[in-house]
Amino acid sequence: MKQFISAHDVPDIRSLIQKALDYKANPWKDETLGKHKRIGCLFLNPSMRTRLSTQVAAQQLGMETVMFNAGSEGWALEFEDGAIMNGTTVEHVKDAAPIMGNYFDILAIRTFPGLKDRQADYSEHIIQQFIKYAGIPVLSLESATLHPLQSLTDLVTITEFWRAGLSNASNKTESRKPKIVLTWAPHVKALPQCVANSFAQWVNAWGEADFTITHPEGYELATEFTNGATIEYDQDKALKDADFVYVKNWSAYNEYGSLPPFGGNWMLTNEKIGQTCNAKVMHCLPVRRNIELSDEILDGPNSIITHEASNRVWAAQAVISELLQ
Ligand code: CP
Repeated sequence: MKQFISAHDVPDIRSLIQKALDYKANPWKDETLGKHKRIGCLFLNPSMRTRLSTQVAAQQLGMETVMFNAGSEGWALEFEDGAIMNGTTVEHVKDAAPIMGNYFDILAIRTFPGLKDRQADYSEHIIQQFIKYAGIPVLSLESATLHPLQSLTDLVTITEFWRAGLSNASNKTESRKPKIVLTWAPHVKALPQCVANSFAQWVNAWGEADFTITHPEGYELATEFTNGATIEYDQDKALKDADFVYVKNWSAYNEYGSLPPFGGNWMLTNEKIGQTCNAKVMHCLPVRRNIELSDEILDGPNSIITHEASNRVWAAQAVISELLQ
């Protein structure tokens, strides 16, 4: 694997999931793989889980990690080719990225979308500029449109719970695919579509689920990611018989970055979970309690959200391991 910015960079998703689970069973089995190698993690936007889990994962592979809050501590970067830099930007990515390419063996980057210009965000201009100029493997820590480390973690978590459920079930011959529902949830501000896009892309590429996406009208995601999923505007109908419910807010893709009005109560509650197959509830975090998800769900028995976030280490370790090899 030469880079990790999308599901399309992964030759075999099932093998990568298994690799993450193998690291979970034996975290130190490749503790010298990254000896004398260095990963630079560049944060143009905030993070907690991605930053910490990537650092832990790299260290378990014997790598040195360098963290740089470039968005708040670095020089303001320019990304436009041919820019006349008489404004607020101080250094062009053309000049900065090759230097990072000399300092590190892998360059990991987090960059959020502006949510103003859809074409610019969906061209992944910023991460593509780093790929073009750094000359070393680039790992996305979440980009303008996708969050692949989160999505790999989500599939690792679903695989774990689905396998455990099957082995505990009295009817061990059951071989149906899990029903996974991605549901939109309310929020107080416009959020990127990255996590939802990425989850849809990965579940579709994985091909091991019966997959439904539910959201109010106006919140349709880009079809390049959702093709293959059933789209259902009625949340109650979508939730019926679900095994996993993935909760996430996102702003509109069509009326880009807007928050179209919606009717009804879209926040998941125990009453709504009653329609599912006792579904496990997932969320990437951070979460706005009692806006996006109720306390009763977050603190209740159906939530696997802490487990999911803990799995971020194993997904990152599997990916970094592939990039090192
Ligand atoms: N889910 C996730 O990416 O969390 P952070 O923003 O804290 O890294």
